[in-house]
Amino acid sequence: MRRDPPLARRLKAEIALEGPIPISRFMARALLDPLDGYYARSVTLGEDGDFITAPEISQMFGEMIGAWCIDVWHRMGRPPAIEIAEFGPGRGLLMRDVWRVAAIDPAFRSAVSVTLIEASPVLRAAQARALCDVPVTWREELDIRGDTPLIVLANEFLDCMPIDQYVCVDGRWAMRMVGLDPAGELAFGLAPLDTVPPGAQGSDGIFEVAPSLKGWIDRLAVALHGRGGAALLIDYGGDGRGDTLQAVYRHTRTHPLSAPGQHDLTAHVDFRAVCRHASDAGLGVDGPTGQGDFLRRLGIEHRARRLAAGDPGASERINRQLERLVAEDAMGTLFQVVALRSPGLMSVEGFQ
Ligand SMILES: C[S@@+](CC[C@H](N)C(=O)[O-])C[C@H]1O[C@@H](n2cnc3c(N)ncnc32)[C@H](O)[C@@H]1O
Repeated sequence: MRRDPPLARRLKAEIALEGPIPISRFMARALLDPLDGYYARSVTLGEDGDFITAPEISQMFGEMIGAWCIDVWHRMGRPPAIEIAEFGPGRGLLMRDVWRVAAIDPAFRSAVSVTLIEASPVLRAAQARALCDVPVTWREELDIRGDTPLIVLANEFLDCMPIDQYVCVDGRWAMRMVGLDPAGELAFGLAPLDTVPPGAQGSDGIFEVAPSLKGWIDRLAVALHGRGGAALLIDYGGDGRGDTLQAVYRHTRTHPLSAPGQHDLTAHVDFRAVCRHASDAGLGVDGPTGQGDFLRRLGIEHRARRLAAGDPGASERINRQLERLVAEDAMGTLFQVVALRSPGLMSVEGFQ
């Protein structure tokens, strides 16, 4: 007989006692439960792990983001101090590449302080190893009261933000819940609703809403209004329609309820909601644009040629990595990029 992972056993007991839970609660526990959550357990990124992200594919990704940060700093009038705050830095590779690129502009590098906002103690330790020569501070949350200008980076962070799913059939709304089937296994079910759920769109179908997204953008907006600066958000792009909840284990998709805490769990990011909340909060918005176009506008093809010229034996590998980051049938259009700006900053690089 299959043995349940510890978190599945605990969730089943809780649901048996208290009843079904919204998907957002299930997702928050599966990812961040301090004992048995996916990100509490081990380092799971990279070719040998469960999934691979853009900074794990190639140094070129972080280098382009580093160049973007330098450009933002210049557009802001080269302030003497600037904080780069990254949400969900994984193994710290993006920041490692940003920091290396910062060396091309010593005045920028000496102005920079780095803050990492990371929930996982295991990944904090991995970040400390990758960034041993970078002055880094870890924080629980963004400092919204500081006075240093700010650049916020978040790559594949918002897709970990828990979502709820709403289902509309013939004009009747229900919330999708996680409960137990007659055999006592975790199973999806529906809880009928009397009212149309907040943020739900359209007519029949499944709709997803990340309940904490608006609060997250509002906090970011307070910080950017008070301190000045920009945020760069890069993620698997969606529009809030359809069921995009997905679990991944060793690069293979699995059922989202099959092993909570053992598999990564994500949902596509509703970039329309991101942009709406950001402009409601008075921020300038650039994008969304595809990751491929964004990186090309920042010069990634030129960088790939330079790297290949310096190491001809590696040119095939470099071109493969480039394709993965920018090609339409790879990450080029599936991943979307949005920049949010404080009102004093008129535009940023990478968008038309
Ligand atoms: C998919 S990984 C992306 C890692 C990295 N940005 C990259 O591109 O390789 C998600 C990251 O977000 C972190 N994370 C997830 N939810 C979080 C939360 N609520 N607060 C802080 N960090 C969180 C995870 O621990 C992990 O570092």
